[in-house]
Amino acid sequence: MADKLIIFDTTLRDGEQSPGASMTKDEKIRIAKQLERMKVDVIEAGFAAASPGDFESIKAIASIIKDSTICSLSRANDRDIARAAEALQAAQRKRIHTFIATSPLHMEKKLRMTPDQVLEQAIQAVRYARNFTDDVEFSPEDGSRSDMDFLCRVLEAVIKEGATTINFADTVGYAVPELYGNMLKSLRERIPNSDKAIWSVHCHNDLGMAVANSLAGVMIGGARQIECTINGLGERAGNTALEEIVMAVRTRKDYFDLQLGIDISQIVPASKLVSQITGFAVQPNKAVVGANAFAHASGIHQDGILKARDTYEIMRAEDVGWTANKLVLGKLSGRNAFKQRLEELGIELESETEVNAAFARFKELADRKAEIFDEDILALVSDEEHAHNNDAFHYVSLSQRSETGELPFAKVVFTSEGREVTCEGNGNGPVDAIVNAIDSKVQSGAELLLFSVNAITTGTQSQGEVTMRLSKAGRIVNGVGADPDIVVASAKAYLSALNKLQSKTEKLNPQI
Ligand code: KIV
Ligand code: ZN
Repeated sequence: MADKLIIFDTTLRDGEQSPGASMTKDEKIRIAKQLERMKVDVIEAGFAAASPGDFESIKAIASIIKDSTICSLSRANDRDIARAAEALQAAQRKRIHTFIATSPLHMEKKLRMTPDQVLEQAIQAVRYARNFTDDVEFSPEDGSRSDMDFLCRVLEAVIKEGATTINFADTVGYAVPELYGNMLKSLRERIPNSDKAIWSVHCHNDLGMAVANSLAGVMIGGARQIECTINGLGERAGNTALEEIVMAVRTRKDYFDLQLGIDISQIVPASKLVSQITGFAVQPNKAVVGANAFAHASGIHQDGILKARDTYEIMRAEDVGWTANKLVLGKLSGRNAFKQRLEELGIELESETEVNAAFARFKELADRKAEIFDEDILALVSDEEHAHNNDAFHYVSLSQRSETGELPFAKVVFTSEGREVTCEGNGNGPVDAIVNAIDSKVQSGAELLLFSVNAITTGTQSQGEVTMRLSKAGRIVNGVGADPDIVVASAKAYLSALNKLQSKTEKLNPQI
């Protein structure tokens, strides 16, 4: 029987470390539910000691998710580990993931510790974590730039203390597939008790090799767990992309010969959900989940596909959850059909009042847009969630004027702490005008780092989804807004980003 390859998803922890990708508790719960639906083995739900918001999110996810193991990251100290254990208390299956840097550079310059001190701290951390769970993962941070003899000492010692998973981290994306795979192989051969742990790979994509390195870690190094994120989300160039790993191992089963527990039909819905919540658009040519991943433009290819699909297709779009913008609902659809579609999409609104409010929004949208697709429903539910949380600002309405030779003008109405505010502004374009109008009242002092618009579905009737990334005093946040009118979507995205900048529960920097 083929070995099982454990899929460890860290979208909610390492993925969230992307600038501006921080998520609210409710957003994290939605993603965690989707990961469970996809049958991910382990969900790293956050870093409990990083912020009260992270702690609460892990706690909530631990009590809701039943099928996947829930994990919290923690530095190698008692306080972090106790906090992780507290957050994970309700989980049916829990894992504490503790780490400390082992490379000479990190030990000397960052930790200012001697190798012996690091060794001792790693041992203590694993010993302490074992008081709370028998599923303990240890990562030597910057492992791929660490001295092999020292790594052998540390990893042998932590396995002896009861670490059940050893995660060989390529923290800065420095590894090269063959070398990385061989390092792992050598560690497993040299460490006498290496067979007492499952070996894992954790690769960053700085040189575009995270997926290749992870797979080399599996095939050469014998790893049986891969750490990855949806859409390869993660700071800098991101992490190993879950969808690429899963589809590579599955499509080339002849070579990898490994068992996977993943329900691949949930891959595209997961990709869309993460993209929509974080505001990180998926590039069109991205493998598996990009809009063009299954599009054949050349005549020769199209002809081949029509004769036999496998001439140019190694995977089928429908298998990974592409539904070709299947029309789901329209103007005449009733509340029950809407509610049923929400359930099919795995969206659980908490009360009938929320269902009613979302249905009212659906009707409004259906009046303006003849065909409503799943993507529209997802955007609508996100909007609805924002309307009901404790955000300071809510969009109400706008009017806008652009004319050749005239300075664009916008009048925006929004609520601030429940009070209606009307503002006006000009700008060098309609978006600049709405930002200036809102800022004339809010005086945010924020800098706009990124503005992007994407059509949620196809056709000119599609809703536009706008992402605005703002920075202020070292904080970076993404705001997302959707509407058939992209100027309205921009106003919603700007207000959503301002809400995040104001939020007290948003952490400054989730990283270590
Ligand atoms: O990249 C890294 O080293 C990490 C560790 C905490 C595993 O994310
Ligand atoms: Zn990482």
